[in-house]
Amino acid sequence: MQKEEIVELTVRFVKDSLKEAESGHDWWHILRVWNTAKAIALEEQVDGLIVELASLLHDIADPKFHNGDEEIGPETAKKFMQSIGLQQDIAFHVEQIIRNMSFKSSLGKLTFHSKELEVVQDADRLDAIGAIGIARAFTYGGYKNRELFNPQIPPNLNMSKEDYKKNTAPTINHFYEKLLLLKDKMNTAAGKRLAEKRHLFMEDFLNQFYAEWNGEK
Ligand code: ADP
Ligand code: NI
Repeated sequence: MQKEEIVELTVRFVKDSLKEAESGHDWWHILRVWNTAKAIALEEQVDGLIVELASLLHDIADPKFHNGDEEIGPETAKKFMQSIGLQQDIAFHVEQIIRNMSFKSSLGKLTFHSKELEVVQDADRLDAIGAIGIARAFTYGGYKNRELFNPQIPPNLNMSKEDYKKNTAPTINHFYEKLLLLKDKMNTAAGKRLAEKRHLFMEDFLNQFYAEWNGEK
């Protein structure tokens, strides 16, 4: 099979699988990550097909919406790649990227690493910051019925995990828990460049948010 045909089949599978997805993880998120990953890959020595497949398949089954099951995503991707008869070494690499690129895995021990993973991870992280990242965070917070902000639960970098588990943390706190930390976790030069700009935009947003909250004129 030609590369174009493999990518086309994958796009069809992903679009179909994500028909019901909420807007932070829908096909448009995948499309943005795919495009950003391709752009970053232009500056890196990587296998383009692996980058494209991993971008397309990376959120095929989010554990957050499958009772925390971390295996369902990589397994679903693997089954799909088997079903189209994809070369085994490529399929294995893509599966490993999906398994290892989440924020959670990056906090623990990484069992797999590759340049292709770095590119896709950067592209995914870039979609969590900047204007789109802000929109996604509030969408997710709304979905969870969280408060926008609560001055009695001040955001800080050491917020207890319990509060997050109880789903009581307002969405603004998520910026301090995760979004503002992503800039320094970027892997590639292009990723770092793009993250810098999006990070500044989030800082501006937060300053304006607090100014308006406090009734500044
Ligand atoms: P990704 O799509 O990069 O794999 P996640 O699944 O962790 O990322 O999150 C998807 C989107 O939902 C991201 O934009 C993220 O910031 C947002 N999100 C995740 N957890 C929270 C939260 N506790 N509060 C607000 N937004 C969240
Ligand atoms: Ni994603």
